[in-house]
Amino acid sequence: MQNPRHVRDAVVVVTGAASGIGEAMVERFAAEGARAVVAADRDRAGVEALAERVSALGVPCEAVACDVADEPSVKALIDGTVERHGRIDLVASNAGYVTVGGLEAPDEELHRMFGVHVMAHLYAARHAIPHMVADGGGHLLNTSSAAGLLTQIGSLHYSITKNAAVSLAEWISVTYGDRGIGVSVLCPQAVATNITTNSPTADLMPGDGPSGAAAVDGVLTAAELADTVVEALAAGQFHVLPHPDVAEYVRRKGDDVDRWLGGMQRFQSRLYPEGPTPADWLLA
Ligand SMILES: NC(=O)c1ccc[n+]([C@@H]2O[C@H](COP(=O)([O-])OP(=O)(O)OC[C@H]3O[C@@H](n4cnc5c(N)ncnc54)[C@H](O)[C@@H]3O)[C@@H](O)[C@H]2O)c1
Repeated sequence: MQNPRHVRDAVVVVTGAASGIGEAMVERFAAEGARAVVAADRDRAGVEALAERVSALGVPCEAVACDVADEPSVKALIDGTVERHGRIDLVASNAGYVTVGGLEAPDEELHRMFGVHVMAHLYAARHAIPHMVADGGGHLLNTSSAAGLLTQIGSLHYSITKNAAVSLAEWISVTYGDRGIGVSVLCPQAVATNITTNSPTADLMPGDGPSGAAAVDGVLTAAELADTVVEALAAGQFHVLPHPDVAEYVRRKGDDVDRWLGGMQRFQSRLYPEGPTPADWLLA
């Protein structure tokens, strides 16, 4: 059985691979000696360029166009990987995006984001786990965010969907842990990617710098983040926390949620010293 904790010789799928964290994970998994890496994204040209670059280094890397919020698309990605590469050892379900807004934001936007940040992980698990169990095990690495363990000041939809992604990962771990399925949930704060630098919403995020409140403990490069992912997988960790301070914040929240909420309220006031806050947008 392939040890799903180690990437060497594993057949790996990464979604959201055309850019940022997903792209860095593809490159790092290939450098670790993966048997094959399948790079999936709705940006076909982006993953094709990446696959060409990585394959040239000697690791088979194939590009697949996939909308992760569409179940047939995810099923085709997973089943196609098993058909072409014989098995599937690790799925890094990673595609995502950010929006800014609060209670006033249209429900359709929340439903759309729920598709990408939650249903995508569910579809990947639904279609990958039967293959993995039949082949002796496998690992799911689901990208959430520090916002999934805490909250995202300025983005209600991001907070809801990233929290749901953590909950889904916990449930899968509890339910399938004794069937050889490992689960990890990646929960970074700010990482320098298109989300933080080029997104049309980046400048609207509260706080200093383009990634706003999430940048309070520093901004990692995607390559640095990929290093911590490989280490955390090898250690079999459920929480993958590239920013170590997040572990302390989670402890504080668990120890005394009222105190934690008070601190977050003060943080929100500091970030919006003169308003408007998202609540103001609704009341205006
Ligand atoms: N960058 C950060 O600061 C940060 C922090 C915490 C969590 N995250 C999470 O990391 C993940 C990767 O983000 P990133 O920072 O690398 O951003 P990015 O914009 O560089 O990459 C995201 C990729 O996801 C793809 N994508 C979006 N929707 C898709 C869909 N429906 N189907 C297929 N592909 C889709 C995009 O085309 C893009 O290539 C996201 O889930 C994000 O929420 C990022």
